Amino acid sequence: MTPSANKPKVPNLLSLQRMVEQQFVEHFKTAPDFLVSSPGRINLIGEHTDYNNGFVLPAAIDKQMNIAVSKRQDDELHFVAADFKDSYTGSVQKLAKSSKQWPDYINGVLKELQNKGYRLSGMNLVVNSNIPAGGGLSSSAALECCVVYAMNEIYGLGLSKLEMVKIAQSAENNFVGLNCGIMDMFASMFGKKDQAILLDCRSLKYEYIPLELHQYSILLMDTRVKHSLASGEYNVRREQCEMGVRALRKIYPQVLSLRDANRAMIEYTLKDTVPDLVYTRCKYVVEENLRLQVGCEALRRNDLVAFGKKMFASHIGLSKLYDVSCPELDFLVELAREEHAILGARMMGGGFGGSTINLIRKPFINEVVERMGKSYKNRFGQEPLAHICNISDGTQVTSAF
Ligand code: GLA
Repeated sequence: MTPSANKPKVPNLLSLQRMVEQQFVEHFKTAPDFLVSSPGRINLIGEHTDYNNGFVLPAAIDKQMNIAVSKRQDDELHFVAADFKDSYTGSVQKLAKSSKQWPDYINGVLKELQNKGYRLSGMNLVVNSNIPAGGGLSSSAALECCVVYAMNEIYGLGLSKLEMVKIAQSAENNFVGLNCGIMDMFASMFGKKDQAILLDCRSLKYEYIPLELHQYSILLMDTRVKHSLASGEYNVRREQCEMGVRALRKIYPQVLSLRDANRAMIEYTLKDTVPDLVYTRCKYVVEENLRLQVGCEALRRNDLVAFGKKMFASHIGLSKLYDVSCPELDFLVELAREEHAILGARMMGGGFGGSTINLIRKPFINEVVERMGKSYKNRFGQEPLAHICNISDGTQVTSAF
């Protein structure tokens, strides 16, 4: 079994873009104004640190969301999700949440733009994608980035990439209702081929770090357990971190977020003043920020072995202290530990399902995927989906007509 043998055949990126254009023409009987694409993301290390003003190390990947879009003369909104064979109609004057969910990522961006005072007319839009939804690769952020980028082009708004990222994040926070951090949108918008992005979520300064993997590849193992972050646990983690910060501030007023906390503060001050759960959540975040920094040093000297160890350590923290893993993710990481060809593995993204990220020696990919697939199937009744991903560029207009 090869990594692509246990997943449905998907068209390559170029043909996906052509397809979205054709789908638009078939549906609306006219050519679109713009085609925009935006990638999914991986995160090498630095999980649940973004909303704590910490560091993250994501990268955009060669799985994309594509939209074909054009402005209408009236206020009507006509959206088509080609992959789901689903459609949505609404009015730009009455943007409201939909029971279908996927239109919320589009409407949320429109709403944020309106809140900023931009006047928008109706539009026709078709979307397709090869980012597995629910796989922890941020397909929703990719869609939001596509839409804000397209609106920036169509209306000549002159927004910077960072402004667009913030609009996409606000859409998710305010309209969709997930209090997520900035990482996913930032990675999708700012992605660069073969580079990881070291982002400081406090200053929003970022640096590209070349990802020289040589004989290694990034393998994602999708548990096929769909995570539903908006339904609560994610927001609860955020609140627990904020609770920890409030407790620390009573003694250290300079601590504005967990980014400003250190290990001593957590062990000697926080431990005895807050519920145990708040302590363990904060401990994890402080340790993950440190791990990321040591991990980045390892990457800079091309020491993938040392980096891999940090990935495994990150998973333990996420599973035992932050408690955002699940039996399927834990099992895949345990299997990865037994494989000599895997240098490091961890759950990735928000958690409670989705994928693990593995750093694996190229020649062993097929046999390892097969072994892990069999063990996983014995335990959970179905095979995980394996994806090899390459690091690619961020949001872009792929055609203007
Ligand atoms: C989700 C959120 C991100 C980030 C990750 C965890 O992907 O959207 O902002 O918090 O979880 O690192």
